[in-house]
Amino acid sequence: MEQITGIWSVLLRDYVKKVEFEIANIEKIRQKGVFMNTIETIRSRRSIRKYKAGVMIPKEDIKQILEAAMMAPSACNTRPWEFVVIENREKLDAIMAVHPYVSMLRTASMAIIVCAKPEVQHGICLEYFPQDCGAATQNILLAAAELGYGTCWCGVYPQEERIEAVRNIIGVESTPFAVVALGVADEAPAARGYYDENRVKWL
Ligand SMILES: Cc1cc2nc3c(=O)[nH]c(=O)nc-3n(C[C@H](O)[C@H](O)[C@H](O)COP(=O)(O)O)c2cc1C
Repeated sequence: MEQITGIWSVLLRDYVKKVEFEIANIEKIRQKGVFMNTIETIRSRRSIRKYKAGVMIPKEDIKQILEAAMMAPSACNTRPWEFVVIENREKLDAIMAVHPYVSMLRTASMAIIVCAKPEVQHGICLEYFPQDCGAATQNILLAAAELGYGTCWCGVYPQEERIEAVRNIIGVESTPFAVVALGVADEAPAARGYYDENRVKWL
């Protein structure tokens, strides 16, 4: 194998240090027991559009987040979804080139594309897939928040052009529903409360 020398070895060492630092940070947060309960997670979650660049997300965390997505409720338990995990920088750039509102992917560590499979609902419970995929997407946001990551849900479905463009990039037959950017937040938008009594009818 070729030796990595000179400036490349310095850059590689810095990169490895940075990744180790971020992973250690996440571990520290966990060891402090800063795990939130569901209501706290929902209250504090915000869309994150600026991430610490170059951080790699441990695979076990990605799997836990995907499991949360797959645990979402779905009409007749049809689970009309599949998920594409993108860590490849060129693919992330390609998504940025076809979707006008995903510039946060520049610094995000990765994206999860939630894709719908409406055909699995034929003859059972047609057309519920947007609700099901929405529930799966929200589970991704909440599971990631609890694990200490930031996310941003970016809509794809029902914009036909975006669906087609994202589908071509990720090479699936299913219907891209949402792009979820994911990474370690490099901004901390304040939690906000939206409880509005005018939106509630008590009977
Ligand atoms: C269906 C849907 C599509 C969205 N699309 C985008 C998007 O393309 N780009 C983006 O930056 N944010 C997108 N968002 C995030 C919203 O802008 C954000 O959730 C909203 O402003 C509320 O802010 P919060 O998530 O910080 O509470 C989307 C959210 C949803 C639910």
